[in-house]
Amino acid sequence: MPNKPQMAEDIYILGIESSCDDTAAAVLCNGKIRSNIVATQKVHQQYGGVVPELASRAHQQNIVPVIHQAIANANIGKKDISAIAFTRGPGLMGSLLVGTSFAKSLSMGLGIPLIEVNHMQAHILAHFIEEDGFKKPEFPFLAMTISGGHTQIVKVNDYFTMEVIGETIDDAVGEAFDKSAKILGLPYPGGPLIDKYAREGDPKAFKFPKPKVGGLDFSFSGFKTAVLYFVEKQTKEDPDFIEKNLKDICASIQYTIVEILMDKLKKAVKETGIKQVAIGGGVSANSGIRNALYDAERRYKWQCFIPKFEYTTDNAAMIAIAGHYKYLKQEFSDFSTTAQARYKI
Ligand code: KG4
Ligand code: ZN
Repeated sequence: MPNKPQMAEDIYILGIESSCDDTAAAVLCNGKIRSNIVATQKVHQQYGGVVPELASRAHQQNIVPVIHQAIANANIGKKDISAIAFTRGPGLMGSLLVGTSFAKSLSMGLGIPLIEVNHMQAHILAHFIEEDGFKKPEFPFLAMTISGGHTQIVKVNDYFTMEVIGETIDDAVGEAFDKSAKILGLPYPGGPLIDKYAREGDPKAFKFPKPKVGGLDFSFSGFKTAVLYFVEKQTKEDPDFIEKNLKDICASIQYTIVEILMDKLKKAVKETGIKQVAIGGGVSANSGIRNALYDAERRYKWQCFIPKFEYTTDNAAMIAIAGHYKYLKQEFSDFSTTAQARYKI
């Protein structure tokens, strides 16, 4: 068991994130950002998706320099760190092992507490990073976590008391973006590119079907297939169809995906009576979903919480803030803790 901390005046948490293809480290002081470093792995682009074995190797290469830089940019020394928070899961096992092993070793070497963090909880807790001009949600609130690996609607009762009330039964929404982009010949990750082209296209140009899934659950595998059949049919008639219509296709894809998400979110608000809605995860960078939420604030009097861009895709600041709140509760891990590829919220 690592040493118990002395409750110093300032709490410095070093966060480490390595669950997928971003190696990230951040330092928070009393919940405020002091540094936030992300090394995004480019090696996967040529494969059209994340290659787990290559991700683990790249984490091994990046983790030491990324952590060094996070500590240096925070203008502190290693001895100032109060505790180390790391992503225990969910994620790719080989990737998680790099961050987990490093966090354990550093905690042992420095004699400071170790704090395990659930990546999906951290996407939600990113809203609690102290930022001027940003309001924090109050409990209970609804959070929709939308990323390359997950699509969930979560009722957040407290920092670490969260209830999944809806989730995808197949693909994640980020995959729907990335796979649609791949069909259009765009590189990985295609989500941001669909967003870029969609801004200049007509969202009603083409119609894609919305899945019929019960309750608050989502499904995106049929959507991706519909995009594939549509593009195949059109390019048979006109080989230049994609080139001529890229912006309209992207706008129509984005419009449909945002509608699918918003339909369920509206249903969740209706069922729970909670009108505070937060989003998190890579897809929360999407301009379509952001605009839909701004619209819902005006139209339905929701109070929406939209993260800053740097806290949408995977980052370690969100791991550090989750660590900060566990630190306040003195909730520490011992050295027998292990990475968990599947890890419930
Ligand atoms: O949270 P994240 O960085 O990693 C996971 O935990 O999966 O999310 C990555 C996902 C990718 O699927 C990427 O295409 C998507 O987020 N994404 C976007 C946008 N920015 C990132 N999707 C749509 N529009 C965007 N602007
Ligand atoms: Zn994520």
